[in-house]
Amino acid sequence: MDSTISRRKWMGQMTALIASSTLIVPNLAYGTETEANPTTNLIKLSGNENPYGPSQKALEAIKKSLSLGNRYPFGEASALHDQLAKQMSVNSKQLLLGSGSSQLLQLLAHWAVIQKYPVTYPSPTFDILPNQVKELGGIVNEIKMEDDFRYDLDQIGKQARKTPGIIYLVNPNNPTGIKTSAHALRNFCKTATAHSYVIIDEAYIEYVGEQDSLVNMIHDNERIIIVRTFSKVYGLAGLRIGYLMAHAKTINKLKPLRIWNNDSLSMTGIAAARASLDDPTFIRESLNKNKTIRDTTVKKLVNLGIQPYASDTNFIFFRIPENKDLASLLKKRKMLIGQKEIGGINYARVTIGTKEEMNTFINHITNIY
Ligand SMILES: Cc1ncc(COP(=O)(O)O)c(C=O)c1O
Repeated sequence: MDSTISRRKWMGQMTALIASSTLIVPNLAYGTETEANPTTNLIKLSGNENPYGPSQKALEAIKKSLSLGNRYPFGEASALHDQLAKQMSVNSKQLLLGSGSSQLLQLLAHWAVIQKYPVTYPSPTFDILPNQVKELGGIVNEIKMEDDFRYDLDQIGKQARKTPGIIYLVNPNNPTGIKTSAHALRNFCKTATAHSYVIIDEAYIEYVGEQDSLVNMIHDNERIIIVRTFSKVYGLAGLRIGYLMAHAKTINKLKPLRIWNNDSLSMTGIAAARASLDDPTFIRESLNKNKTIRDTTVKKLVNLGIQPYASDTNFIFFRIPENKDLASLLKKRKMLIGQKEIGGINYARVTIGTKEEMNTFINHITNIY
């Protein structure tokens, strides 16, 4: 065989592969390997992560757990399961763990498709669940929200009544950061669960407080499913731990969709989550810093003529002045943010980083405009 030709052919195939792989890099919450690497000096305000995590206690627990890396973590997963159930005041039969809440959203998407449940959801939102349902050939009903991006619960309820199945709501929402009141959501769930399951993704609930969670409705209502994560205020995004809470009967319906009965967690992730649950000081300090820095950033943006939507989370969302491609302009300055185009208008979603990172962000914005 002519080695030059075969080498050329191989190079051609590799080039095509690399070119096609760039097509699958999504623009909002995902990143590349180098983005997490501190030596690249990128300021990462694109993933809604906690810039202060993991906590010191979690880091110590991770170090200790490394030597157990040769063992399956079945017992450790059960211990986390019980610890979390206790902390959330639910029965351990009302809980499922997952390798990140996205694994549980995937499980729910598969369930929707298997059961032929149409999924009704407002947009813009964190849409990996409806997207996967679509990919798998299931039915989704996207309800576009108007300018203020507030959930129109009446409209969502009306649509779901016509096509009963699953309603997916993120509260507070991503990418907008807007909270729907627990009172409104409770009333909505009371009527909507007569015909549909309601999944509430509470990835950012710690930023608003437990009083806004609907978790205590799962005891009496089989059709409410709460999804949560350790990736946000707990500062463990890279360790992939999420959980789901629902009535025991609903959990039993979902369990057959798991592949491992230890919920696919890792020894290090479990150790970090357990230590973090025992570290309320770290959570409180992270929440306080986030709020102070978010308020200051918003004030500075308002002074520059940019009005972010009222945010209850660790990120802010705003219409980009002059419809610029702000994400690209900031990337040139070694800063990453999320950007989403809605109806021809570009919006930015900026994670609240450290004080220094947000000062740099404001400096860049000042220079750009
Ligand atoms: C609303 C929401 N749900 C779920 C996730 C996924 O989180 P993870 O898979 O890291 O738990 C995210 C991540 O950004 C999110 O914003």
